[in-house]
Amino acid sequence: MAIIFCENLTKIYRSGFWKLKKVVAVNKLSLIINEGEIYGLLGPNGAGKTTTLKMLVGLSYPTEGKITIMGKEPKSLEVKRNVGFLPEQPYFYEYLNGYELVYLTAQMYGKEVTNRKIYEILELVGMLEAKDTYLKNYSRGMLQRIGLACALITNPKILILDEPMGGLDPIGRKEIRDLILQLKKEGKTIIFSSHILSDAEMLCDRIGILIKGEKVKEGTISEIVGEKVNEYEIIFSNVAEVYLPEIKRLAKDLIKSGDKLMAICEDERKKEEIVFLIKNFGGTLLALIPRRKSLEEYFFSFVKEKSYAP
Ligand SMILES: Nc1ncnc2c1ncn2[C@@H]1O[C@H](COP(=O)(O)OP(=O)(O)OP(=O)(O)O)[C@@H](O)[C@H]1O
Ligand SMILES: [Mg+2]
Repeated sequence: MAIIFCENLTKIYRSGFWKLKKVVAVNKLSLIINEGEIYGLLGPNGAGKTTTLKMLVGLSYPTEGKITIMGKEPKSLEVKRNVGFLPEQPYFYEYLNGYELVYLTAQMYGKEVTNRKIYEILELVGMLEAKDTYLKNYSRGMLQRIGLACALITNPKILILDEPMGGLDPIGRKEIRDLILQLKKEGKTIIFSSHILSDAEMLCDRIGILIKGEKVKEGTISEIVGEKVNEYEIIFSNVAEVYLPEIKRLAKDLIKSGDKLMAICEDERKKEEIVFLIKNFGGTLLALIPRRKSLEEYFFSFVKEKSYAP
């Protein structure tokens, strides 16, 4: 069942001293998002992703067109209570700690939340340990997580996330991806924008590609790129430094983040060998994720072919 409808959505910004300069940020965009799905809005810089999401949450008004969320306008109170939003570059008052920020956010929505609920949300986004640290000492990834906690504290039905994986390293991205999948399991509808096509590929039920404000392609990932797996992400820990060159030799890339490592390899046989080595070296295999690189390839060839490239 559809939960978000956008019809012929257009946003024209006017800038300059006499407001004479016109920028068509979103052009006649129609979107239907179904309840419980993860929808990815993809596109190059300046494609109109943020503008679209801001209109959905009622932070910006369309020049033309119509939005209905749960049958109502974005500015209606019922919609606001049921939509959680993570802005592109969340900016928070620096002298609050994580706990206080989430508590204040709940207050602003007029929600009475228990301590337990706040702790639960902090735990969910992996920020329980840092709850007493001032936001000014948070890394970009931590700000992203605490921003997500704020978007979640009112238990919204719909989540609108602008670049939720932005600024995160591959392991941080995987953790946010897992969180998004968990939220989907809880029945939430999620629409997010991203530049990181491989993340979108792993998460989205459907994607829409936006270029110069227009939707140029929409569909499920397999409709768009086919089913073939051609890369694997292998996440592991506890392998001594001296053994890593052997794994590196087989991998296309080996990335370290904290005490976890991620090897990326391009074929089935190498994947098996790496998994074997990890076990042999006494390591712990944390995740093995098939990845289709082709959305990225598709995206670039599509953008080029349509002469949309800047
Ligand atoms: N407040 C504004 N005033 C004038 N022009 C704007 C404003 N906000 C965005 N734009 C323009 O609208 C277009 C779409 O911008 P938008 O931020 O929506 O793109 P985006 O797809 O989110 O890009 P990015 O990937 O860089 O985040 C761009 O040309 C941008 O310069
Ligand atoms: Mg943006």
